[in-house]
Amino acid sequence: MDLYEYQARDLFEQHDVPVLRGIVATSAVQAQEAAAKLNTPVVVVKAQVKVGGRGKAGGVKLAHSPEEAGQVADEILGLRIKEHTVRKVMVAEGADIAEEYYFSILLDRTKRRYLAMLSKEGGVEIEQLAAERPDALVKRSFSPLDGMTDTLARDMAYEAGFAEADVARLVPVLKKLYGVYTAADATLVEVNPLVKTGQGEIIALDGKVTIDDNAEFRHPEHSQLQDHGATDPLELKAQKMGLNYVKLDGSVGIIGNGAGLVMSTLDVVAYAGEDLPGAPKPANFLDIGGGANAEVMANGLEVILGDPQVRSVFVNVFGGITACDEVAKGIVQAYKILDAEGVEPKPLVVRLDGNNAELGRSILDNAALPKLERVDTMDAAARKAAELAASADSRTGAGAASAAAADAAPEIGHQI
Ligand SMILES: Nc1ncnc2c1ncn2[C@@H]1O[C@H](COP(=O)(O)OP(=O)(O)O)[C@@H](O)[C@H]1O
Ligand SMILES: [Mg+2]
Repeated sequence: MDLYEYQARDLFEQHDVPVLRGIVATSAVQAQEAAAKLNTPVVVVKAQVKVGGRGKAGGVKLAHSPEEAGQVADEILGLRIKEHTVRKVMVAEGADIAEEYYFSILLDRTKRRYLAMLSKEGGVEIEQLAAERPDALVKRSFSPLDGMTDTLARDMAYEAGFAEADVARLVPVLKKLYGVYTAADATLVEVNPLVKTGQGEIIALDGKVTIDDNAEFRHPEHSQLQDHGATDPLELKAQKMGLNYVKLDGSVGIIGNGAGLVMSTLDVVAYAGEDLPGAPKPANFLDIGGGANAEVMANGLEVILGDPQVRSVFVNVFGGITACDEVAKGIVQAYKILDAEGVEPKPLVVRLDGNNAELGRSILDNAALPKLERVDTMDAAARKAAELAASADSRTGAGAASAAAADAAPEIGHQI
């Protein structure tokens, strides 16, 4: 889970990392009130979206009075930044910035170690710096068993070119940020910029934190960080039904049993659609698991048919523990359930193979369900589903793929 900047700010504060005061607002009036409460000569109104580059996109602006803060917030709220709509801003104290640095810690899965990066030249041009002058970015791989020691922090700071006085101020902050990283079970803590003020203080002005969802069981407090407003409504619905569903941006709905089969189904469908008009792509990932019954199948179909981008659905099942006749019965019952709920069917391609495939296929054939086609091989079925999506699109004139929601990528931490 990626955190918003204001959540990262709060987390930093809990771990004694120096930050500035910030108040979240969802309207211009609230922003004005927040600025009045902060009562500093300058405030900064900052878009709260889970993407980098807000500054360059006009999502970070100074204001010199509460009224101006209200006006600026009004401009920023509703702004689209890399496909994310701004619904919240943080009104923060304005910093007296003397220098901007960059610091991050991330998980290096291949090495099974952590990676820390530090640069004396942080700020909004960090991506360019990383690409053009990688030497200006000090990188150190270190073992989780050792952690961010004084020695490591000092070494990095010296190598990055900091003077003695700054090194002394920087080291405790780097160590505290490492404290955040471990205490929150994060896979990324990135501060850009980490600033030195006119008074020589070191302050974290921006924060990107990614929390490892696998450690959720250790952190009941993290559940409140979840942003249900930003979660896709279909994913939320699927979550409530206990389904393993991820929304993608294509037009071919996918249902399969087993994560591996579903993953390869996504590939095969994308490949099959490549040379078709509109290049239809998978609309989702949905694994109905091993022991899927009719209700699970109906729920899965309901979620997928609820996606307005879906033009066709591909049910790809390899019967193992769950025999194909069970799956076929599930599909037949799912149709009944959906029909009773008034859900309109969309073209459905079913491929059944493996345990009791013949029986399953004959159940489907006998049921003669509307808009359902049976295709025996995975490749041919994928092709059929992609063709159906492409032809549905050309009839409605709707574009297959909408722009993908930009990932909440860290500013440069994603480059390893
Ligand atoms: N509280 C603040 N006071 C003064 N300037 C700020 C403040 N927060 C951000 N800035 C300036 O705006 C720039 C961009 O802000 P930042 O929070 O890093 O957003 P992003 O990384 O999404 O562009 C920073 O590099 C800094 O120069
Ligand atoms: Mg930043």
